Amino acid sequence: MSILYDEATRIFHLQTEHSSYQMQVGPYGSLLHLYYGPRVEDGLGHLYTPKERGFSGNPADTGNDRTFSFDTAPQEYSCFGGADYRTACLEAVSAQGAGDLDLRYASHRTGKGKPALPGLPHVYFGEDEGETLVVILRDEARQVEVELFYSVLPGYDAITRHAVIHNRGREALFLERALSCQLDMAGMGYDLITFWGKHCLERQPARTPVRHGKITAESVRGTSSHQQNPFVILCEQGTGEEQGECWGLSFAYSGNFLAGAEVDQLGNTRVFMGIHPQGFRWQVKGGGAFVTPEVILCHSSQGLGGLSRQYHRLLRERLCRGEYKLARRPILINNWEATYFDFTGEKLLKIAEEAASLGVEMLVMDDGWFGARKDDYRGLGDWVVNEAKLGMTLDQLVKGINALGLKFGIWFEPEMVNEDSDLYRAHPDWCFRTPGRAPGRSRNQLVLDMGRAEVRDYVFDAMSAVLNSAHVEYVKWDMNRHLANVWSAALPPERQGEAYHRYVLGVYELMERFVTAFPHILLEGCSGGGGRFDAGILYYSPQIWCSDNTDAVDRIRIQYGTSFGYPISAVGSHVSAVPNHQTGRVTPLSLRGDVAFCGTFGYELDVSKLSEGEKAEIREQTAFYKKHYFTINQGDYYRLTDPGISQPYAAWQVVNREKGSALLFYARLSAQGNEAGVRLKLQGLVPEKRYHIHGTGLTLTGNTLMAAGLEMPFFQGDNQSIVWEIEEV
Ligand code: GLA
Repeated sequence: MSILYDEATRIFHLQTEHSSYQMQVGPYGSLLHLYYGPRVEDGLGHLYTPKERGFSGNPADTGNDRTFSFDTAPQEYSCFGGADYRTACLEAVSAQGAGDLDLRYASHRTGKGKPALPGLPHVYFGEDEGETLVVILRDEARQVEVELFYSVLPGYDAITRHAVIHNRGREALFLERALSCQLDMAGMGYDLITFWGKHCLERQPARTPVRHGKITAESVRGTSSHQQNPFVILCEQGTGEEQGECWGLSFAYSGNFLAGAEVDQLGNTRVFMGIHPQGFRWQVKGGGAFVTPEVILCHSSQGLGGLSRQYHRLLRERLCRGEYKLARRPILINNWEATYFDFTGEKLLKIAEEAASLGVEMLVMDDGWFGARKDDYRGLGDWVVNEAKLGMTLDQLVKGINALGLKFGIWFEPEMVNEDSDLYRAHPDWCFRTPGRAPGRSRNQLVLDMGRAEVRDYVFDAMSAVLNSAHVEYVKWDMNRHLANVWSAALPPERQGEAYHRYVLGVYELMERFVTAFPHILLEGCSGGGGRFDAGILYYSPQIWCSDNTDAVDRIRIQYGTSFGYPISAVGSHVSAVPNHQTGRVTPLSLRGDVAFCGTFGYELDVSKLSEGEKAEIREQTAFYKKHYFTINQGDYYRLTDPGISQPYAAWQVVNREKGSALLFYARLSAQGNEAGVRLKLQGLVPEKRYHIHGTGLTLTGNTLMAAGLEMPFFQGDNQSIVWEIEEV
């Protein structure tokens, strides 16, 4: 049993293998949050002590009791307009303009397994793997009812949460904010870790002590964005990589989001996550309901590394879907950085022929194969193969690639349109634009209103026609700008506040149709690199292009930050040419390979321009990756150092599930005269087992490797790296 309810104390106790989550039906039917942390067995009702506080008002039914206030009570789902002045989950205005809500416990139910969230990405698990609790809160006066869903997955130490807001009245209800969850944590001895970024430098951890007031991570860009990621960690202030308490909140959503932590007047911390209220106003008709996206919660007492490994396994095994979820993904070569728009079918065949001899398994034809797309000013939306440019049909090209022993993949940017396109000329109203104003461009393109069924139908049909015309085994689904001037020609004025969320729902609907119609195609998400790298997209595509920055040194930092919340199997990473196209930096092929190994490995360069020596090295790389694929992609990942910008070296490690083999990656980024030695302690091994470290002549116990560690070799020059294969003997 993972969900316990004590009738006498009215305490709900959600238990995973190592964590407990408790809430209680408290005074006046309030739903109090009691605890989320290491597993305990007792009920924790003693942790809540009501007390009168000045300027924290009391609901009417408390009579002369001035000790209960929503302003000071730790809650599960707070609302605006009563006397809770902290960040609220829910704000809803009635047809009369009334904006206050007062939610009290009404009932609850439990069930085996986890119900699906139709139309929204979500963690899934079987009836025998866990249970779901639904607590129903009701505002009698306003006829609003909220169902709070808690799905408990004990074996993964995870709890998922979302809310369904019902309008039980007859008249419309306008949601001004509908967050997915909050956690009212006791005290304020925490740090909040958020992940900021920009195009070409995504997901950089920023650790901030929480303080009176708020710290937030948010996006109003219409997508989850490069700039902030919808994954945050709350941790105790002393928490490190391998020790300490921490809690993760991962939003299975790819649009505008708000996440943060607020410390209230009494020094308690409210953490919250959900759809960003800015630009959001959702009308729920009488009898209707609104479903918030899901937040995936994990707790770990094993530090940030432990928390990351929990998320890695959970997202990989219970969020990602499809044939490639756990299967080995092909090593690909993508022509983007090799050719940009300047290619023909012949040129691609030449690249493929060379790549085949190097152990590469798939060629991906990137942007530029359709319509009049000879540069990024035109063609988006016209998903018709440009046979004149290719010099052949798609089928002929793919057959040629297949004959070389390679699979074939193709690039689309389904959500976009250029003004210079047949699609735009036929349907100028299909993009977002506000009345009376020409829409702003970004990368010369406009955004299609994916909330509209006819737009999605067009895109689906156009994509399907291409995919059905040849043996395509992979699709890269790109999205190269953020939303602006969001106004939908298909929505009435009172529903314009729904356009952002309807866009995301539309994208999900289209992606679902795509994965259903083409179950054998491997889908890779992308948004100018890692601009939509979130748990929502991973429900549809098991991998996402991590960054448009392929520079190995920058990538170490990008992949480091990404690893906090996302598994290696999700991280698209390729070896590219030097000088690197984004930074101009020249790094050895070995470092580029060692960094790209920690992801869905591939190449993004013109292999026909490589020397024989480089080709030999690439043959070794592809063989190495195939050999170690499952250790890397399905093993446990350990961050051994923080490769912050001023750090001279970086190290990370993977250990397979059986703990019989491991890889230690060490990159010496900047050389120093009279360099000091670097000693690294390994992790995740079995103390009693003996391991051989290939290339060193050493055989040592796991205990020695973890307690005393290994001394790294000295290198000459910047950006040198080594991978040590460690195997049980
Ligand atoms: C985006 C992607 C790149 C490439 C280009 C093509 O920037 O992230 O990998 O596909 O678009 O235009």
